[in-house]
Amino acid sequence: MLIKRKRGWEVAERDATPESTYMNRRSLVKALAAGPLLAMGGGLAGCWDEATASNPPQIVDVPPDPSAHLYPVQRNLRYKVERQITDEADATTYNNFYEFGSHKSISIAAQALKIRPWTVTFDGMVEKPVSIGIDDLLKQMPLEERVYRHRCVEAWSMIVPWSGFPMAKLVELAKPLSSAKYIKMQTFQDPEIAPGQKQHWYPWPYVEGLTMAEATNELAFMVTGVYGKPVPRQMGAPLRLAVPWKYGFKHIKSIVRFTFTDKRPVSFWEEIQGAEYGFWANVNPKVNHPRWSQATERTLSGPRVPTQLYNGYTEYVADMYKDIKGENLFI
Ligand code: MTE
Repeated sequence: MLIKRKRGWEVAERDATPESTYMNRRSLVKALAAGPLLAMGGGLAGCWDEATASNPPQIVDVPPDPSAHLYPVQRNLRYKVERQITDEADATTYNNFYEFGSHKSISIAAQALKIRPWTVTFDGMVEKPVSIGIDDLLKQMPLEERVYRHRCVEAWSMIVPWSGFPMAKLVELAKPLSSAKYIKMQTFQDPEIAPGQKQHWYPWPYVEGLTMAEATNELAFMVTGVYGKPVPRQMGAPLRLAVPWKYGFKHIKSIVRFTFTDKRPVSFWEEIQGAEYGFWANVNPKVNHPRWSQATERTLSGPRVPTQLYNGYTEYVADMYKDIKGENLFI
């Protein structure tokens, strides 16, 4: 059997889902003008399309998010970032979400994602497996806003005002057994609305994992909103992860399942190319990826800046790794 393995974000233009495929699939969304449509098509991973940024695609006819009344929420000033917040139009039109295409311009295609009903399941090593609707979950969680750095392994970055709640609160709700060592998280799977999931060489569904210490670290944040509104579909509605000291591929989107386990999960990109995308994936300017120097980063609405160890969050996270030997913590 021939298995075609893709190398992370090294994506050939032919693999980008043709825009016609997803535009025909759903009449939910329309671009208002031909200009933005042309700008969207076929961008290669890692190419920043100025035309798309200055003239973002318009999205119409998408069912409203029923959690909209919850936002904006109060900003938690403990987490400060010295750079300017990235323009909303840039952050919401330059996205990695391979379920909707292996390029950056998936913001319109992602509108096909149905975000209600949305059920989140907690299972594995827990006192009792449970499933809960996203709106019931939101009612039980203390929402706040946090401005975090967001650094992709492709060496671009943004500053994002996420809304959501500490992941530690989610773990508390799930009641894991003391023997659980890791949390495996899983994205929805529905190739009918997510054409990328028809690309059989990817190991769908998207999976990510954290240690229990990482998941309960004060920085680990479950995102439900951004820019004072519900998080849009292209950024991982209705529930995604933000672990700002790690590369962006750890920030799994549109999560439906949290499984507590004593076995280290193999994540989506790790399964594809473990030597390049490891389990830990902590940011380090001195450890380069084979295709991207990590010394500096290109900010989406600003200049190129030096990258910081643990993406600037050393004081919060370094202790978790001090006793781990023989592992590459930065891949
Ligand atoms: N989650 C899912 N389910 N599918 C994806 O393709 N891409 C990851 C991560 N989460 C991805 C995902 C990568 S590579 C990055 S850099 C971030 O999402 C991008 O998040 P953003 O589009 O909100 O900036």
